[in-house]
Order: sequence, then structure tokens, then C-alpha cells
Amino acid sequence: MTGNASQQEHLPFDTLSDRWQSLRALRPVHYDEQQSAWQVVDHESVAAVLADPATFSSDFSSVAPTQEDFEVFRQGNFVGMDPPEHRKLRTLVSQAFTPRVVSGLQPRIENVCGRLLDDVADRDRFDLVDTLAYPLPIIVIAELLGIPAADHRLFQEWAATLFGGDELGEAPNMDDLARALKAIAPTVREMNGYVLDHIRRCRETPGNDLTSKLLAAEVDGVRLEDQEIVGFVALLLVAGHVTTTALLGNAVVTFDRHPGTLPALRADPGRLPDAIEEVLRWLPPFAELGRRATRPVVIGEHELPAGAMVVAHLGAANRDPSRFAAPDVFEPTRSPNPHLTFGHGIHFCFGAPLARLEARIALRMLLERFSDLRVPAYGEVTFQNPGVIVGVRQLPVEVARS
Ligand code: HEM
Repeated sequence: MTGNASQQEHLPFDTLSDRWQSLRALRPVHYDEQQSAWQVVDHESVAAVLADPATFSSDFSSVAPTQEDFEVFRQGNFVGMDPPEHRKLRTLVSQAFTPRVVSGLQPRIENVCGRLLDDVADRDRFDLVDTLAYPLPIIVIAELLGIPAADHRLFQEWAATLFGGDELGEAPNMDDLARALKAIAPTVREMNGYVLDHIRRCRETPGNDLTSKLLAAEVDGVRLEDQEIVGFVALLLVAGHVTTTALLGNAVVTFDRHPGTLPALRADPGRLPDAIEEVLRWLPPFAELGRRATRPVVIGEHELPAGAMVVAHLGAANRDPSRFAAPDVFEPTRSPNPHLTFGHGIHFCFGAPLARLEARIALRMLLERFSDLRVPAYGEVTFQNPGVIVGVRQLPVEVARS
């Protein structure tokens, strides 16, 4: 890939980088009046907050706006649970989603990537999100769950509605959230009904898919309720789809804006895993995680009251100079790279091995298929609402084949 002038344009990603830098310049822990929340920005404090679920709860059910259709999703949605409920669900799901299941997906992911890229075999310009980054993770998750191929498009449509984030501002408050939940309620209801039917089908005729395995998994003699499985499917969609889409788009944009990266990776594809970790550090798809203090607690020099809202800034922690040399430089060979993009502690991302596998396969295949891959016009690139997810929405690319 060669450089072009538009690489220098100021993009929303640069605004985020500036924000993470300026957050760092403030004290590591401070109160934000506008968000009515404590902001935690340094690596050590962010990791400490995420490592202590007894003090910093992930359960917002008592304070978040409620929406009837959403209640069904809460049950298996263990990212919003604290111990001991969290452990039960996570352990059950881990039985079905083992490292062997994930590594066994490699040939299938290669096959899906190949097929998606075949669709643009005669084009020298296409949208990378529509072609690859959006459909790949959803096809992988839907297949994993045993959803028939004919219905994958439904999942793509639902995901687009659920994660559009158009109703939300960049710093959404509870009213914005309540409005957004109401807007997506019909989609949630439709998806809930579909997944319940799918569960019933798997109960009648179990297959080798994750849904059938979840139905059979047990911890201490207890199985998952159907509703818990629906909640887990929703969680997979939320956590596993848009994040991976974002990672792929962020990688292509970041490589494009750092000329020399793609030629170096093409010359030595063994460097790809480190480069992907650096993209994860540089642009974490979830830049902020919310927690709620369960008791009065001291962080740094501040005493937070019980009930205080806490925002753990992964984006800022990933640029902490006490953990990363030259944190504001994108360094694709950086190693070790203790970024916090997949979280930390008991909620550490469950799908990190799958996200990494998909990114390695998809990016390797792009390197193999195209001798050049560039973003010709940043004016045509559109971005997600960074208050929801750090990623691109549309990413037109230009390719050459040797
Ligand atoms: C949790 C990020 C991909 C499933 C998390 C958390 C983060 C995260 C930050 C912790 C949330 C918290 O502590 O509140 C990401 C990123 C991804 C990605 C950046 C891609 C680049 C995936 C994939 C899957 C997945 C592919 C599933 C197939 C989950 C689940 C949890 C989770 C189930 C909840 C774990 C728990 O609460 O114990 N993810 N994720 N994620 N992620 Fe991911």
C-alpha cells in the first residue's frame, strides 16, 4: 500500500485519540458533572476497577431504564451480572464454547472469507464493511448457533437495527437510553421469538451446534433455562458481532494511515498477530465500560460513595505512558502489549480467541488476494457513533491484484 494525501485528514478516530490524551492529562480519577460519573483513566486504576466485581458491579438492572421486551434478554446476559450468578452462566457456556470449538472453526472461517471475497473478484473498488467485515462475524456466530443459512440475513438486519446507535448522542444519558430501547423493542421481540423457536427445534432434534450443546450443559446439576439461552444469543450478537466488524475496519484504516505497515505484513505475515493486538490497543471497539460502586470506596485520592457510577476508560488506559512506551505511536510490532481492549477480570472477553482468529484469517486473506489495498477517499468513509462503538460504518477500498 502506498500513501495518499487523505491519510492526513482529521478523522473522528483522531478526535477520539485527542480525547484519550486529554483525559490522561486530567487526574487519573475524576468526576464528570455532565455524565454524573467518576472517570477512571489510568491503566492501573482501570484494571483495579475491573478486577473487583464485588465493589464495582456490572449489574445496572436497578438503575437502568426498563423495557419489557428487554427483560427477557437480561436473564442469560452474564456481562451484566455479578458473582455468583455470573459464574454459573459463564461456566455453563464455557462448556459448550471451548478452545477446541473455536480452533475447529478455522477451516469454516477461511471458507466464508473466501466466498465473501469471491463476490468482489471482478471489482477493483468495493465496500470492505458490506463485503467482509459485517457479514463474516455474523455468519460465523449464526452457524455456530446452528441457525439455518437462509435466516442469516435476518440476523444481519437485526444486528443493524440493534447497533445503529442513531438515536444516541455521543454521551448518552438515561433518557436517551430509554428512548433508544423503545425504538429497538420490536426488533428485540422478533428476535426473541425466533431464538425461542430455534431452541425448541434444537431440543426436538439436537445437532452439533452451540445451541444444542447449551441445552445439554450442566453446572451442579443445573441446566440453562430457554430464556437464559435467548439472553446469551443476544449477548453473542452484541458482544461478538459489531466488535469484530469494528476490529476489521479499524485494522484496514489504521494500516492505510500508517504507510509501510501492509507491505511489511505482506513480506512477513507472521507479524500479523502483533499488528492486530496493536490495532486493538489503538482503537478499542468498546472504549468505555460502566460499573456501579456497591459500597463507599477509595480510588486514588478520591472517596466514591455507594451507588456512584464509574466509567472505566479502556481507550485512555491503552495510551497510559506508564504501561506503554510512546503510547501515541501506532507500533505494529509492539510486544508485549498489555492493552485492556478485551476487558480484565471475571468478565474478560469470552470471545477474544474467536475475534483474534477471525481477524487473522480475514486480514491474511486480504493480503494474499490483493497486491495493493487502499482507502482512496476518506471523505467517503462513514463512522459509527463512538458513544456506542469505535468503528467504521462504510469503508470504500480500492484494490489491485498482481
Ligand atoms: C465481554 C470486547 C469479541 C463475547 C467483553 C468485554 C469486552 C469485550 C471489553 C468485557 C465487558 C465488561 O467487562 O463489562 C470485545 C472486543 C471484541 C469482542 C473488542 C472484538 C474485537 C467477542 C466475540 C464474542 C464475544 C467474537 C463471542 C463470540 C463476549 C462475551 C462477553 C464479552 C460473552 C461477556 C463475558 C463475561 O461477562 O463474562 N468483550 N469482544 N466478544 N465478550 Fe467480547
